[in-house]
Amino acid sequence: MTQLQVFLSTESRQNADVLIVPVYEDVGTVTELKKFDTHVAHMLGRLTESRDFVGKKMERMVVPMDADESVYPRVMYVGLGKEKEISVKRLREVIGAAYVHAQNKKWQRIALYVPRGLHKKMKGGELLGSLLARSLVVSTYSYDEYKTDPEAVTVPVNALQVIIAGDTREKKSYEKGLAHGQLIGEAVNHARHLGNTPPTVMTPTYLAQSVKELAQHYPSLKTTILSRPAIEKLGMGGLLGVARGSCEEPKFIIVEYRGASKSVKPSVLVGKGITFDSGGLSLKPGEYMMDMKFDMLGAASVLGAMQGIASLKLKKNVIALIPSAENMPSGTAFRPDDILTAMNGKTIEIQNTDAEGRLILADALCYASRYEPVEVIDLATLTGACMVALGLERSGIFSPDDTLAERLIASASLSGEMLWRMPLGEEYSDAMKSEVADIKNLGGVGGVRYGGASTAAAFLQFFTDYPWAHIDLSSATHMSKSKQWIRHGANGFGVETLIEYFAKTT
Ligand code: BES
Ligand code: ZN
Ligand code: ZN
Repeated sequence: MTQLQVFLSTESRQNADVLIVPVYEDVGTVTELKKFDTHVAHMLGRLTESRDFVGKKMERMVVPMDADESVYPRVMYVGLGKEKEISVKRLREVIGAAYVHAQNKKWQRIALYVPRGLHKKMKGGELLGSLLARSLVVSTYSYDEYKTDPEAVTVPVNALQVIIAGDTREKKSYEKGLAHGQLIGEAVNHARHLGNTPPTVMTPTYLAQSVKELAQHYPSLKTTILSRPAIEKLGMGGLLGVARGSCEEPKFIIVEYRGASKSVKPSVLVGKGITFDSGGLSLKPGEYMMDMKFDMLGAASVLGAMQGIASLKLKKNVIALIPSAENMPSGTAFRPDDILTAMNGKTIEIQNTDAEGRLILADALCYASRYEPVEVIDLATLTGACMVALGLERSGIFSPDDTLAERLIASASLSGEMLWRMPLGEEYSDAMKSEVADIKNLGGVGGVRYGGASTAAAFLQFFTDYPWAHIDLSSATHMSKSKQWIRHGANGFGVETLIEYFAKTT
């Protein structure tokens, strides 16, 4: 566990392997730095004067220091860009990249100076402390489970010392922020870890087991795992239909957290838990099947959020529902032309077995009604169409409820995640009507391929009778490639948004 500490700039110095100094491009930092460390200030002055380093976004300069000059063996100046352009997202990227750089160099004790301008922009210590800690935990995570070469395994960062030029009261708020941020970061990494686990290991049964273990760590989480007989009894025809092609048993996972009084109606989170999506009989072509272990990232993010909610002891009632199955082709697989009956009795014509996410979500959305929820938010890697529309850094949000959508979008931007509102509407709903059943699982507006993200959302809407929002996770991975501030694989998108959402709403 990383040690997170706050020091006033006037306090005596602790040893660290590197001092990170974030610098705006257009706001001088030298004067305030002088009060903290004349050598660090002087060096920055020289660098900006010679224009070797000016603080442009993502610019980085590492300068070694002599032992008689500074307690820090080196200083890493990092560019924040222009002050008016700073955002939570930008900050996370710049600071995260600095942490990753330090970690790659095996500098395990990091000190970070917080310029006053940054402190003010980020509205004080609680939020900024939280962001700095989240960034550390999230950016230094690496999925190394299967690496046998010790050199290829990343080293942990042991300590982060945040240095502020404020007073003791401010120090307290940073300490609180850092502690919260660390818990949030760990919740994000829990989701990433589940997502990165290879699909032969990460089966619905394994996912269910991991939830049991999570609940052992957090006694405020109560889990119920429904197996086939219970799923059959409930009539979850969507989940059972999708699971038919696989040797792996389906599971329906329920996690309950009661942080408010029993009489308060809960919010329900639903996460798509397809542990591998081959497409089923409507088999995906080879290159499209790559990364389909990530088809349970909706479930992973919901579980990460539950961990965060429990560890922060939020005063909310939140329930997570995870339908989980593997989508495989076989002699017992469900087929195009089949008609499945969802838990609420609605019949669904199957036109493509690769549109399986909506089938298992339909049953979970029906099940959610039992709780008379104040709201239901589902997260799912539902369509390639949403990725085509938005790219891989933003996810789509669909909701008939403007307030719910806007609050979620605001919660996302507070954590540096990006959501973009996408449409629902009659034309999408009409496109899902079937000739032989109530609805079908494939439809487009003006052509089968058009409006695929919205028709998928409209399909889900048929199963909702409460305030509801759907997040199509087009940005939950960056296609196995590392970024400067976050390593390859699952990125835990949605976890922070959800935690922020529940921490804020009353
Ligand atoms: N899991 C996929 C969506 C997906 C594709 C997520 C690529 C991440 C990356 C989903 O089950 C799916 O296959 N959707 C189809 C729907 C189509 C058959 C209507 C798609 O998007 O192609
Ligand atoms: Zn699919
Ligand atoms: Zn899928």
